[in-house]
Amino acid sequence: MSFEPEIVAFLCNWCAYAGADMAGTSRLKYPANVVPIKVMCSGRVDPEFILEAFERGADGVFIGGCHPGDCHYVNGNIRTRRRVEMLKKLLEQMGINPRRLRLEWVSATEGAKFARVMKEFVEEIRQLGPSPLRRK
Ligand code: FES
Repeated sequence: MSFEPEIVAFLCNWCAYAGADMAGTSRLKYPANVVPIKVMCSGRVDPEFILEAFERGADGVFIGGCHPGDCHYVNGNIRTRRRVEMLKKLLEQMGINPRRLRLEWVSATEGAKFARVMKEFVEEIRQLGPSPLRRK
C-alpha cells in the first residue's frame, strides 16, 4: 500500500506564503500533501505548534521563513533557526527522525524554490515512512 505523507507547513505571510502563491500563479506543481498555515513571521511558530502537529499525526513539519536580513520583525527568523536546531534534538529523543522537521528560507519571488523544496520534502518523508506518532 502506498503511503501519502501528511505535511503541515507554517509559512510566513511576507515570504514563503507569498512564494507558495507565486508557485500557484506560475502553475508550478507541488504535492497536494501540504497543509499550509499562514503565520505573520516564522518566529511566531511556537515549539508547541510543531510538537502538536506531530502529536496530531503529521508525518513532517515545514517552516518557511524570510531570508536572513529580510525578516519584517528584525530577527524572528534567526530565533526560529535556533529553535529548530533545539527541537530537532528533542524530536530525536522522542524517537522522531529530526529530518521530519525542515526550515527553509523562501522569498515571495521564489515560487520555483517553494515548489522544489516541497517536492523534495514530501519525497524525503515518503522514504522515511509514516511518523511513529501517526494515529491509526
Ligand atoms: Fe518572515 Fe519574520 S517576517 S520570517
